[in-house]
Amino acid sequence: KTGFQIAIDGPSSSGKSTVAKQLAQELNYIYLDTGAMYRALTLAALQAQVSADDIEGLKSLLANISIDFAKAENGLGQKVFLNGQDVSQKIRQDRVSQAVSAYSARKEVRQDMVARQRRFAESGRGVIMDGRDIGTVVLPDAQVKIFLTASAQERARRRYAENQAKGYSKTSLAELQADIERRDAYDSNREESPLRQASDAILLDSSDLTLAEVESLILAEIKKKL
Ligand code: C5P
Repeated sequence: KTGFQIAIDGPSSSGKSTVAKQLAQELNYIYLDTGAMYRALTLAALQAQVSADDIEGLKSLLANISIDFAKAENGLGQKVFLNGQDVSQKIRQDRVSQAVSAYSARKEVRQDMVARQRRFAESGRGVIMDGRDIGTVVLPDAQVKIFLTASAQERARRRYAENQAKGYSKTSLAELQADIERRDAYDSNREESPLRQASDAILLDSSDLTLAEVESLILAEIKKKL
């Protein structure tokens, strides 16, 4: 039995997770940050020194890790647990961001993650997931599909401001933009479920929109289908 499903896909730093979190809060839906799951797997692999080419190593890693979420104290957003340990901060480290695309390009990794993600949608409650392949692969029957983009320059600018505010990165604006462009290319050109807009998804370019504007546009789409 599945509840109402909302899929938000798009490139990194397009604002997907911020908007998805707020919508989930407003609608009282389950929110799933699928990028955090790929990041947690990547962290586990880096810790166990399993390279992205080591398929057997990846398979046994996947068979043995647990990835769980818990609501953050502020109500917004989530804590991410890898094998029971809170890795919410660690999965945002540069070394994870730099390695995650290579691991998430692996078919074995994707099949395992997609199966985990679908289980969240089976609770009967409404779900909102953000990622790269939610509308195309994970939830092909989602009632609302959004493809959220913004220019690489604007996304780098936002990520930079976010880092400054959190005070946990020394990465320059130019480096951030280069990393965003590299990940876009990697995610869009991989063989296994590349980043692409589902044919029935609504395209939203947020370059010149505020988060509040993006949120109300998506909410309007949801209300049409509820
Ligand atoms: O969304 P976020 O930037 O945290 O995702 C990190 C990486 O995880 C992406 O660059 C992409 O390689 C991978 N990913 C994916 N499929 C998803 C979500 C994330 O391949 N559904």
